[in-house]
Amino acid sequence: MSPDSGQKKPRIFCIVAARPNFMKIAPILAEIERRGRLEAVLVHTGQHYDTNMSDVFFQDLGIREPDIHLGIGSGSHAEQTGKLMMAFEKLCFTNRPDMVLVVGDVNATVACSLVASKLHIPVAHVEAGLRSGDRRMPEEINRIVTDALSDLLFTTSRDADENLLREGICAEKIHFTGNVMVDSLLRNLEKTNPEATVERVLGEQFIRKPFVLLTMHRPSNVDDLKALESWTAAFETIGQTITIVCPLHPRTAGRLQEHGLEKRFKAAVNCISPLGYLDFTGLLQRASVVITDSGGLQEETTVLGVPCLTIRETTERPITISQGSNRLVGSQPEQLLQAMLELPAREEKGQSPVPELWDGKASNRIVDLLDKLCIVQ
Ligand code: UD1
Repeated sequence: MSPDSGQKKPRIFCIVAARPNFMKIAPILAEIERRGRLEAVLVHTGQHYDTNMSDVFFQDLGIREPDIHLGIGSGSHAEQTGKLMMAFEKLCFTNRPDMVLVVGDVNATVACSLVASKLHIPVAHVEAGLRSGDRRMPEEINRIVTDALSDLLFTTSRDADENLLREGICAEKIHFTGNVMVDSLLRNLEKTNPEATVERVLGEQFIRKPFVLLTMHRPSNVDDLKALESWTAAFETIGQTITIVCPLHPRTAGRLQEHGLEKRFKAAVNCISPLGYLDFTGLLQRASVVITDSGGLQEETTVLGVPCLTIRETTERPITISQGSNRLVGSQPEQLLQAMLELPAREEKGQSPVPELWDGKASNRIVDLLDKLCIVQ
């Protein structure tokens, strides 16, 4: 941690925990440190710990070493959240921050917000206000609770502002600042080399071959045997006409093994290890279509104009449907098969303008506000 020098700068804890957090924190941390008015302390809670779920993102996105590593790891929701809260509270006692900044909707987002707000430390939430309306998703609970506790709510779209106002959050706390994921995407696009990535990761024969890029890890799709079995059957059908490539998330890998579906799934789908940010973004630019249950990927495909079929009943990112390339196909595999048949060829689909403030400057707007508010406090 940087030693105090002369006048004390307001100290802001920036929390990261799991894979989708890294691309959100990278541009904010860089901007805070470029301006030098706040002392950013990077705290990694350790929810994701495998090299290819965490370290590679630090390298690809140029994020410096965390100042503090809590090393919490995996566990049930209560175990993970409880351990996180205990460790984070201790940290706040010994090294009190002036503000805690959390991103997204993972378990650490809610755990750290709870601790901070009970210690009367202001909480800033980046990507506030997204709502799927489905409380069976653990992330939805995390979003609702974090937003209720936050003092500063940075949103990515105007529908998120409306969600927050509907829940009684006062307008002064809400700031429509844009999408920091897009900051990372636009800043790193030129570092990617789609052709070379396809050749290295998938093999030379894929350079001119169309493929589907699949990512799937939501509990509703992979924890339930029946759901996982029906998706496997759907991929067997799709795989007969186009190759499906899937960087396999550890949760999905575990469930396929537990449910005895690993062999069938891997016969239908070309499974590879989870990829770093630059490799994944490289493949994404070459994919004919994405099939996913991820949240962030609905946004990235929207910016890149890649057709996206989301295998969920709901989305907390409706703007990717109204203004992007995303289509919600639901949780029945027949709907996915139908949607695949209806897909326009990628070349025929003109790219729609990206959503408002998805312009690569969201982190500047966020840090403008942090500077103003932290320094005034
Ligand atoms: C978490 C987030 C989810 C996000 C996803 C991205 C919550 C509630 N969920 O889900 O919103 O989309 O991250 O990946 O916070 N594991 C490893 N290595 C790791 C991390 C996990 O092997 O580095 C395994 C563990 O066995 C663990 C399982 O993956 O039990 C699931 O990990 P967990 O952190 O519980 O949730 P995710 O499914 O990754």
